[in-house]
Amino acid sequence: MTVAREKSAGATPADRVSDRAPVEPIDATRARRDFPIFERRVHGRPLVYLDSAASAQKPRQVIDAERDCYERYYSNVHRGVHALSVEATDGYEAARHKVARLLGCGCHREIVFVRGTTEAINLVASTFVRQRLGEGDEVLITGLEHHSNIVPWQLLCEEKRAHLKVAPIDERGEVDLAEFERLLSERTRIAAFAHVSNALGTVNPVRAMVEMAAARGVPTLIDGAQAAPHLAVGVGEIGCDFYCISGHKMYGPSGIGALWARLERLEEMPPYQGGGEMIASVSFEKTTFNVPPHKFEAGTPNIAGAIGMGAAADYLQRLGLAAIGTHEQQVLDYATERVGAIDGARLVGTARHKEAVLSFTLEGIHPHDAGTILDREGIAVRAGHHCAQPVMDRFGIPATIRASFGLYNTIEDVDRLMEGLEKVAEIFG
Ligand code: ALA
Repeated sequence: MTVAREKSAGATPADRVSDRAPVEPIDATRARRDFPIFERRVHGRPLVYLDSAASAQKPRQVIDAERDCYERYYSNVHRGVHALSVEATDGYEAARHKVARLLGCGCHREIVFVRGTTEAINLVASTFVRQRLGEGDEVLITGLEHHSNIVPWQLLCEEKRAHLKVAPIDERGEVDLAEFERLLSERTRIAAFAHVSNALGTVNPVRAMVEMAAARGVPTLIDGAQAAPHLAVGVGEIGCDFYCISGHKMYGPSGIGALWARLERLEEMPPYQGGGEMIASVSFEKTTFNVPPHKFEAGTPNIAGAIGMGAAADYLQRLGLAAIGTHEQQVLDYATERVGAIDGARLVGTARHKEAVLSFTLEGIHPHDAGTILDREGIAVRAGHHCAQPVMDRFGIPATIRASFGLYNTIEDVDRLMEGLEKVAEIFG
């Protein structure tokens, strides 16, 4: 592998498509100052953080919101008559409004706070779909899903003797839409798919996929974990039934996320977990349940986490998702050209519509070795299967090196990555 001798015609982003309106990009150098972590050095070098798809760094606005809750008004929510409980409840419920605004939904009661996307998917699997799925029925997913949008369905299908169907992806990492449509049958009880692939960066044409499903009366769930930090998500426009996001991917705290579903859907669904908060009344003979979203929020929730997630939603909206996306696209395009031109580099995931993820392999070099050398240069990438082993199998590889970008990454970060890859080449090439 040589980095200096770059191929003249690597994979280029020239055929990339985007449905984004052209807007001015954010000033990433300025936005980066909101993130205290960039003040530190790693192994003596300024940090280049290219692992936002695993978890994004946190701006002061989020850290301060969470700290402020603990320092000034922390208490349990929906339970107390005292001032702190009222203030904590107000903060928690205000966060619900903020997340609702981020997802473009009109009603804050359609936002259920959960631990993250994984729990949101498990919630829908354990309630809405469990009720509807019978022996011989089908669940449809795609070949680019994260394990969290595979395993809950596998478990449920096993329990119900139902079948998990998978719409394949092509060489670029795009879902075969004709196959997706063909696999929607009268036995399909839900179609569940990612908005953006965490391993490949592919942006699925979710509106078209929802339309195909809706035309056959099939409800849809979208794993939006990798979309919410990059795209303005309008759940109404998309037309899906469920949309799932994680706080920590969108610059908020970990251990908090949200499930969006239309109120009628939430009302018809049975409870998820039993416990405090989700009830209206309890006796040993009978329990009646609270109204959504509280019906699905058993136990004391992650109060400060939700408040931090609300602050992250505000932060993203203040910068503007279109402006963030435009900037990230420039970084992704530059990285795609530079890395794609390296001798021996193979880009894994070359979809026409991509966000913020560059997965690649280097001939003769294990991704973990490359990741370790890059780390010594202060460059954080993820090396592995990215919780998407079927995607790796599809491309016949065990792992990739994944550089994933956030709003704070710059062209200089990509240059540092290239310098790091030079070192990798010197050692292993
Ligand atoms: N889903 C996370 C990732 O893509 C952990 O790295």
